[in-house]
Amino acid sequence: MGFIEVFGHQPATDASAPGRVNLLGEHTDYNQGFVLPTPLSYNTRVEASAMDGIIEAYAENFSQRKVRGLQNAKQGDWLDYPAGCVWVLRQAGYQVPGARMHLKSSVPIGVGLSSSAALEVATLRALRRLFGLDFDDVTLARLAQRAEVEYVGVRCGIMDQMVASLGQPGHALFLDTRDLSYRLVTLPRGYAILVVDSGIPRRLAESGYNTRRTECEEACKLLGVKALRDVPLQSMRAVNGLPEPLNRRARHVVTENARVLEGVEALEQGNVKRFGELMLASHQSLKEDYRVSLPEVDQLVEICIKHGAVGARITGAGFGGAIVALVPEGEKELFCQGVTKDYPAAKFF
Ligand code: GLA
Repeated sequence: MGFIEVFGHQPATDASAPGRVNLLGEHTDYNQGFVLPTPLSYNTRVEASAMDGIIEAYAENFSQRKVRGLQNAKQGDWLDYPAGCVWVLRQAGYQVPGARMHLKSSVPIGVGLSSSAALEVATLRALRRLFGLDFDDVTLARLAQRAEVEYVGVRCGIMDQMVASLGQPGHALFLDTRDLSYRLVTLPRGYAILVVDSGIPRRLAESGYNTRRTECEEACKLLGVKALRDVPLQSMRAVNGLPEPLNRRARHVVTENARVLEGVEALEQGNVKRFGELMLASHQSLKEDYRVSLPEVDQLVEICIKHGAVGARITGAGFGGAIVALVPEGEKELFCQGVTKDYPAAKFF
């Protein structure tokens, strides 16, 4: 059902935002490091009009309509995301009396492609237009992250909201999460970026994610730095001297930051082969040191390489979910057939 069918009148405005896949730089954003995500062609569209005192929304994906008062806390459902956006704008001092919204998304949910950031950014864009609010796209990403952390209650970094807000199709967003400076990097011509879902649900993703964050904070204390971003590759002896498992966690973050810097250089020099190697090295590090992969996902990465990917790695928070593979455009079909034969549960996005 569309907006008019649900609410009986036209929406005043609409906006959309994409899902994302991260090419390199995993679990670095909450360590003030570097990331390299790219927006996907899947997106979330929000149509909106003003209301007084309530948030009312219809989610086309669930055929559900929900209403909430402006003062109400989160309920653990999909309305938390748009409600969190209204909440954060009011917290930040913007005049937002309430809203009625229609939500529709083609971003696969629960695979690790950031359907939540797409929904937050699309909602904030719609509200910005609806109420004529004056803030830029970086501020919008910060507000979206704050809605997720403080209202929804997920301790995420800023990568997903930044790429949903500032990413451009055909480009990766090279982002320094410390000061939010960024640069667009053109993706290699003649290569497809494929997301391959392992079909393994992301088990314990939230608690595992929070444990990793705490481990990184402990490693910082022992190393005497503000953030793991401040540890150069040359300090690997100090990193290796940390107690288990902090040595592994810190080693991943320090080497992953270096891989992003080298990866951007490789892309800018057209060295796709090197970029692929860095993706594989990232997977190895996420598997051995950060320990956020699973045997099935490791197997899927190997299968992707066997069938022609120049690089492949687990992407997003991990603990199951999807991998990202870089595949020569001309070999896409054969690649998908080969992977499906060896891993029948694989789904391609
Ligand atoms: C999730 C979080 C991001 C980031 C990744 C891991 O997607 O939302 O902020 O930390 O995990 O790189």
